Amino acid sequence: MKRVISILLSLFMVLGFTLTGCAVEEAETQATGNVEILLQIGNPNMAVNGVEKPIDTEGTAPIVINDRTMLPVRAVVEEMGGVVAWDGDTQTVTLHYGEDEIRLVIDSVDAYVNDSAQMLDVAPIIINDRTMLPIRFIAERFRFDVAWNEAEQMVTITKTGQIAEQVSTLDTTPAKQPGTSGSNNLVVYFSATGTTKSVAEKIAEVAGADIYEIVPKIPYTSEDLNYSSDCRANREQQDDAARPEFEPIAVNISDYDTIYIGYPIWWGTMPKIVNTFLETYDLSDKTIMPFCTSGGSGIGTSVSAIRNICPDAEVKDGMRGTSSITNAQIEEWIAK
Ligand SMILES: Cc1cc2nc3c(=O)[nH]c(=O)nc-3n(C[C@H](O)[C@H](O)[C@H](O)COP(=O)(O)O)c2cc1C
Repeated sequence: MKRVISILLSLFMVLGFTLTGCAVEEAETQATGNVEILLQIGNPNMAVNGVEKPIDTEGTAPIVINDRTMLPVRAVVEEMGGVVAWDGDTQTVTLHYGEDEIRLVIDSVDAYVNDSAQMLDVAPIIINDRTMLPIRFIAERFRFDVAWNEAEQMVTITKTGQIAEQVSTLDTTPAKQPGTSGSNNLVVYFSATGTTKSVAEKIAEVAGADIYEIVPKIPYTSEDLNYSSDCRANREQQDDAARPEFEPIAVNISDYDTIYIGYPIWWGTMPKIVNTFLETYDLSDKTIMPFCTSGGSGIGTSVSAIRNICPDAEVKDGMRGTSSITNAQIEEWIAK
């Protein structure tokens, strides 16, 4: 079981791939920007586009801490096309991929993605002189897809040219605004740093829903989101009366029967701007499907908070998504 990567490689050989064939295939996938990296708990080798390579020179294997796969990430990130820098004085790892930067500090759950503060559920740690970092967090923030195979204890990190292209479209194109499709379903979301946006767009696609982004009148800056400080987001969350305003919505909510509402978890619940949205519209008799993204927490008390605000709506159980959520997972949640 521990040698699944080797077995997979042998299988390729049995199926008739010559070494030259593999090399040609690797060159082709790199040329198209496709990357697939397989990592397995306890296995010091990774498979990159079908080619087995060591994770580091010391033979370090990935381990699991609190359900998170941790490993020395330098080689993995470099195979993804990124760069890793280590500052021993500040015990900080800085990772770059394209325009994106992630900063992680040993023994701290505070992470910074493009200077926006985010919360890790497992702090980076040094074990036997090796810096062990959470690979899922890094890969997802760099917009790679990450899948976990429990039976094989294997993490698969992928980015295809197609996905990369879709992501760059998502990043640069304003969210599609609704009203034209005739759908009864509407996805409404607030996203400060883009994670919830990516989940919202997948849900809209699977549900055949229109989609609307709740855009704050006063945008949240990185400083506003730096929850290690007395930041605007923290102050709003602590203030029962805070109702941040959003830009006018060009949508007739009464046209929709089912509203999917998405948000990041802020201090265990939804950001106050979501309260503003829910209190602005009459959602009686609607079906409400709450979903969130978070640094690790569940959907928390937000679902009961929505039920309190919308007592005459049918508020279904919520779902915590990640940017690698699959269509099947979304379909399963919708069918519940
Ligand atoms: C003010 C603030 C508070 C947060 N509180 C939590 C929390 O309680 N639990 C958690 O897991 N993540 C927390 N996070 C992390 C976000 O939920 C997480 O990064 C989310 O995926 C961001 O979504 P977005 O990119 O759509 O804004 C917090 C982030 C901020 C800015």
